[in-house]
Amino acid sequence: MPIFAAFSMAAAMAAAPVAPPDTLEQRVAACLACHSVKERGDAYFPRIAGKPAGYLYNQLRNFRDGRRHYPMMTYMVTRLTDDYLREIADYFAAQHPPYAAATAGSGAQANAAQLARGEALVRQGDAAKKIPACVACHGTALSGVEPAIPGLLGLPSDYINAQFGNWKSKSRRAAAPDCMADIAARLSDADVAAASAWLSQQAPDTNARPATSLPAPLPLACGSVPASAASSSAIASPHQATAGARTAALPAAAPSPRGGAK
Ligand code: HEC
Ligand code: HEC
Repeated sequence: MPIFAAFSMAAAMAAAPVAPPDTLEQRVAACLACHSVKERGDAYFPRIAGKPAGYLYNQLRNFRDGRRHYPMMTYMVTRLTDDYLREIADYFAAQHPPYAAATAGSGAQANAAQLARGEALVRQGDAAKKIPACVACHGTALSGVEPAIPGLLGLPSDYINAQFGNWKSKSRRAAAPDCMADIAARLSDADVAAASAWLSQQAPDTNARPATSLPAPLPLACGSVPASAASSSAIASPHQATAGARTAALPAAAPSPRGGAK
């Protein structure tokens, strides 16, 4: 672990009291130790700013309820209520700080053939292996789709590889049907490395925002995406992009109440 990460973890632990703090500002200050702009220099901490609020909310619940595993994350959210997690998700979804320079993770070593394979998977998928194009769900600009699908640019290749490993080993789960687990099972390790290398080399745009509707209905069912948003026309209205509409769509996005599936 880089020295800086160890330092931030200590700082985060010192900053996080045992009981949940009273204000949102105190709570998010502890998060920034790992999730602020400068962290893109670390190969593992994902950016959370600007991701769709429904996606962030689902992940915070997943860590709290045991569907994703990272000890510091579980510690940060373990005693927080759904309402509090939703407030935190809304807060980070509305932040759009500039991106730091790309980190040279494992994806930096990819050769031209691997990058070409990665781009083909992202843009076209691989029909022979029943892999849909990533853009079909993550948006043509890969900036995510409201309310529950994240963008894929600006993530370190090592983080993406780790998430595919987690889906394959079932240590990362989403509401059933878990489309990313199905897709991960169809990708070889070489395909994962190719896709993550290509994705990590695309320059993210600070002005990009999650799309408000899908390019076409989802090619595979995703339990974490509310039914109302899974078809291409249902969320086409620009009004749906307001915070109120996102929040209204959330309850359907994550099935299990506190203490659910472990
Ligand atoms: C000690 C460092 C650390 C702190 C502090 C921390 N996080 Fe994280 N967070 C991580 C790491 C590492 C991951 C990726 C874990 C994984 O899935 O392997 C992560 C993942 C996440 C994700 C999922 C991101 C995605 O794209 O799927 C969200 C959302 C998140 N954190 C929010 C928060 C919030 C909100 C706080 C404060 C309450 C917080 N984090 C505090 C390190 C941290
Ligand atoms: C059928 C729709 C669909 C397709 C196709 C799809 N994804 Fe996803 N993806 C999702 C959904 C939904 C999520 C959110 C899952 C959750 O809530 O945990 C997701 C999440 C992710 C994440 C997690 C991001 C983060 O910040 O942790 C990564 C990485 C990812 N997808 C990569 C890919 C790649 C690479 C491809 C193409 C090979 C792909 N996806 C194709 C629907 C899809």
